[in-house]
Amino acid sequence: MPTSILIDTDPGIDDALALTLAAKLPALRVVAVTTVHGNTDVNRATRNARLVSSRARLSAPIIAGAAAPLVRDPQPARETHGAEGLGYVVPSLAGEHESDGAADAIIAQVRDGHRLTLCCLGPLTNLASAIAFAPDIADLLGPVFVMGGAIAVPGTQTATSEFNWWSDPEAADFVLHARLDLRLVPLDVTRRIAVPGSAIRALEKVGSSDKDARFWADALRFYADFHRAHEHFDGCIVNDALAIALAADPSLAEWEEMRLDVSLSDGERRGTVSKSVIGGRVTVAMRVRAGEVLSLIERTLFSQWLPEGAFASGADDADRWLASAAVRDTNT
Ligand code: BDR
Ligand code: CA
Repeated sequence: MPTSILIDTDPGIDDALALTLAAKLPALRVVAVTTVHGNTDVNRATRNARLVSSRARLSAPIIAGAAAPLVRDPQPARETHGAEGLGYVVPSLAGEHESDGAADAIIAQVRDGHRLTLCCLGPLTNLASAIAFAPDIADLLGPVFVMGGAIAVPGTQTATSEFNWWSDPEAADFVLHARLDLRLVPLDVTRRIAVPGSAIRALEKVGSSDKDARFWADALRFYADFHRAHEHFDGCIVNDALAIALAADPSLAEWEEMRLDVSLSDGERRGTVSKSVIGGRVTVAMRVRAGEVLSLIERTLFSQWLPEGAFASGADDADRWLASAAVRDTNT
């Protein structure tokens, strides 16, 4: 029996890959997709979720969500995900305003489903609002997989914080303390899920005569250009795809129980995660079989265009790159 899952997302290049992976994995049945501000504004994120879903033949309803964090201003990541949110892909439709129905949709789906699994791939604004409006859903929910935070590795947004939790730290804080079965998928593991630059270049070649391959080449190449310019890395890290892979098969990671807090300050520490005896209880993926995850993504999404093993060097490439980055002390 596939696991029923609701995906909350801000597409976003890696969100697009994650959504497509969820649509294709037989272990998952996507019941709804809610969108949120984050990598791009929510209108574009909703338009992108629709575009990606239709390409993946995913028929689940797509519901627009929060346009802004709980108390802060939205700050889209145009440098990382492009002006439209999908790298060099230029969608033919504009993103249009839709009213925010995500929290209501989450509440309805959770009350309707038996221990529904959630997978949150963007800032946690929608989930925090849903629980604030309907606290009873906290007890009804199944596992909640969340891509966010950085435990023992440097951040991406500041030296110590990761983008999703930096974007809406108040929502992350609320969710952390909501007594959910929270399964955190932080940068510590996602940064090993690297699509090698060589595979993106191969996809680009196929893309000259295949429009589906071109879609992915155009999306991933932008991400890779960003990584090369800012992090001297040849390839791109597809964080959100790991959260979906682990929702489908949690045994691909080793999980640790922790109590975590998130900083609500401004400046460098905003969104930074720290261990704390009074923090929220979380189950955290701290090690992952990255090669297997990359092979799963390659087989499921790219086998018609790329030779087997095209993603094989990704995990080692990422390990070498990570080894050269400073690892901060987490015991503070
Ligand atoms: C997270 O931030 C976004 O850039 C990605 O889509 C992912 O959800 C990684 O820090
Ligand atoms: Ca995302």
